[in-house]
Amino acid sequence: MLRVFVFVCLVAGYHVSSVQVPTTTLNDGNQIPALALGTYGSAEDIAKMRQTINLAVEAGYSHIDTASLYGNEDKIGLGIKDVLSRGLVKREDLFVTTKLWNDKHAQNQVVPALRESLARLGLDYVDLYLIHFPDAQNADGSPANIDYLDTWKGMEEAKRLGLAKSIGISNFDVSQIDRLMGNSQIKPAVNEIEIHPTLTQEALVDHCHKLGIVVMAYSPFGFLVDRGNPNAPPPRSDDPKLTDIAKKYGKSTSQIVLRYLLDRGTIPIPKSTNADRLKQNIDVFDFQLTPEEVATISNFNKNKSVFGS
Ligand SMILES: NC(=O)c1ccc[n+]([C@@H]2O[C@H](COP(=O)([O-])OP(=O)(O)OC[C@H]3O[C@@H](n4cnc5c(N)ncnc54)[C@H](OP(=O)(O)O)[C@@H]3O)[C@@H](O)[C@H]2O)c1
Ligand SMILES: *[C@@H]1O[C@H](CO)[C@@H](O)[C@H](O)[C@H]1NC(C)=O
Repeated sequence: MLRVFVFVCLVAGYHVSSVQVPTTTLNDGNQIPALALGTYGSAEDIAKMRQTINLAVEAGYSHIDTASLYGNEDKIGLGIKDVLSRGLVKREDLFVTTKLWNDKHAQNQVVPALRESLARLGLDYVDLYLIHFPDAQNADGSPANIDYLDTWKGMEEAKRLGLAKSIGISNFDVSQIDRLMGNSQIKPAVNEIEIHPTLTQEALVDHCHKLGIVVMAYSPFGFLVDRGNPNAPPPRSDDPKLTDIAKKYGKSTSQIVLRYLLDRGTIPIPKSTNADRLKQNIDVFDFQLTPEEVATISNFNKNKSVFGS
């Protein structure tokens, strides 16, 4: 019987020992896992998303970052259905984040947009709902004159209805955060922003942390991965400053950058659809960088986003 079980597990590629990801407490009392799976990608990535969710949960991922913009919520929903029915996790052990797109910023559009995301995901609540960008657009992409304070009222309603356990923002700067903090009943639990070695965002991260807002770090690999920009500043994945640190801990430079973001108190969101890289990207909880190593990596900062020329 046991031999049959072991055989089935091997054939199914089932990983009995997966990584345990620690959690952090949000300002509303909910727990958020310290690392999330990024899911934004090409049509090819979208096609792989159901399988990716299965692989990721097997490896120990408990937090999935998506958005209505990504066009993959339905595939992610199928993957979640799989892992629940396979008994790998229970719904309450998964943390699902999705985002409101710019063309649904009117206060009365927020809850309906979230209900559409939930229907695609096959869920009755998400753990975290974010305003994807502070700027509103019309359906044709032209700018719309809707104040994010109005959008936020719709977000507060989503939380009160229990459709989102926590609510937050993405791509908000210091002045937008302050204005929201001063004009809201429920404070944002999270701000999701771009952070990596060439865009370290010290001031914005400090500001969020002082206000009790947890920071999620998107595009964590920065220019370590090819962004199609021939003028990309260092570091690349073979930068000697990174490979020295990587050698010391027996890790890859990708893992060093994820650990850097964890050691700065942020939640990295590495994206992969590859089984080996998925495992590598979550295997970052058995070591820590020194403050000097964190400073060495922060010194790469050029205030340079991976988006844009
Ligand atoms: N809120 C926002 O406005 C916003 C904006 C951008 C991104 N995001 C979120 O943040 C997530 C991550 O950002 P991102 O997708 O821009 O970039 P990223 O996670 O920094 O990089 C993804 C790229 O790195 C490759 N990769 C993954 N692990 C690797 C490893 N260990 N070694 C070498 N290469 C590796 C991936 O390829 P493979 O898949 O082939 O491994 C992919 O090409 C997104 O997926 C999305 O969930 C949010
Ligand atoms: C990045 O921007 C901050 C804030 O504007 C500034 O203080 C810092 O000098 C900039 N760093 C670089 C490397 O340009």
